[in-house]
Amino acid sequence: MVAAASGCAPPSASGISTSDGETEGMVRQCQEAVTLRDGAVCQERLIGVALAARYLNEEPYAAAAREFNYVTPENEMKWGLNEPRPNEFDFTLGDAITDFAEQNGMLVKGHALVWHNQLPQWVNQLTDAESVRAAMLNHIHQVVTHYRGRVQAWDVVNEAWGDGGTALRDTVFLRYLGPGYIDEAFHAARAADPDVKLYYNDYDTEDLEGKSGAVYDMVKGMVERGVPIDGVGLQMHVRIPDDEPSIFELERNMQRIVDLGLEVVLSEVDVRTCGHETDRDQGNRYYRIVNACLRQPGCTSVSVWGITDKYSWLNHPSAPQCPEGDPTTPLMWDDVYTKKPAYHSFLDALKGS
Ligand code: XIL
Repeated sequence: MVAAASGCAPPSASGISTSDGETEGMVRQCQEAVTLRDGAVCQERLIGVALAARYLNEEPYAAAAREFNYVTPENEMKWGLNEPRPNEFDFTLGDAITDFAEQNGMLVKGHALVWHNQLPQWVNQLTDAESVRAAMLNHIHQVVTHYRGRVQAWDVVNEAWGDGGTALRDTVFLRYLGPGYIDEAFHAARAADPDVKLYYNDYDTEDLEGKSGAVYDMVKGMVERGVPIDGVGLQMHVRIPDDEPSIFELERNMQRIVDLGLEVVLSEVDVRTCGHETDRDQGNRYYRIVNACLRQPGCTSVSVWGITDKYSWLNHPSAPQCPEGDPTTPLMWDDVYTKKPAYHSFLDALKGS
């Protein structure tokens, strides 16, 4: 099971040694959780947040960040930021997030090694298989080696499937290397770090059909071929009132992935309200998502994609928007760092209430 430092003792430290007693002790202690981190440790899960290095000096931002025991750098470990020119690496920002995590007893999920977005121009301008392969393998080797021992898991390949899941997305990697680039990326990551967990991560993959089915078939094939994959990240950028995915579908999808011997992580959760739904509705959605993960032993982490509504990625026009341009207000803290019902619901789910 995962472990991360916390001010809250794990249930096994409760002094109760029988297994029944431990269960009772765990329930009691989870109910007493006052922070997300208390609940995370009690439930033996990683509860994560995407952080941006540029806001870490803002005290309410940093204070909210310390509620979590897992961090994903929102942008700082992406290719465009850490290898802007061929073989010239700059780990300053990724290191800043990792330092913050370590100072606060949080584990880190690296994000993302191979992705079509935030890719430097020079990679997109490559025109033959040999140079694309060399660039991809060198990038993975250098980045994974740099963070070896400091990063708990990597999103090795992000968003390789096109919308609808009918075909792999047309990227420079697919164009020159064919679909085998995904296996190659995982093998390269494993060669650079034998201990780190390796994930495939994507959006609109939470239910059972379409892209979810395509991702399931792909990772099943990877497992059968002996490709070193440890888990699947379901991003979970969702909107209410759409009941998509239903919790029933989410649970079935998680189960079929776990049945392959893989972990599931809910990797980028946010819930768009679009001005029509109340904060309480949003809280209910958060509750059901967290609760679904807790009921699945193979779901090892839930991460939210940001802290405050004021810095959500959804505020940018190129991100998914609400119909009629209504505000998305997707996160657990509002613009002035007041905890929303979503926060209390998330905590309630961790408490088991
Ligand atoms: C987003 C960041 O939040 C933004 O700041 C950036 O401008 C674009 O990328 N899926 C992913 C994340 O895997 O990396 C994306 O993050 C959000 C969607």
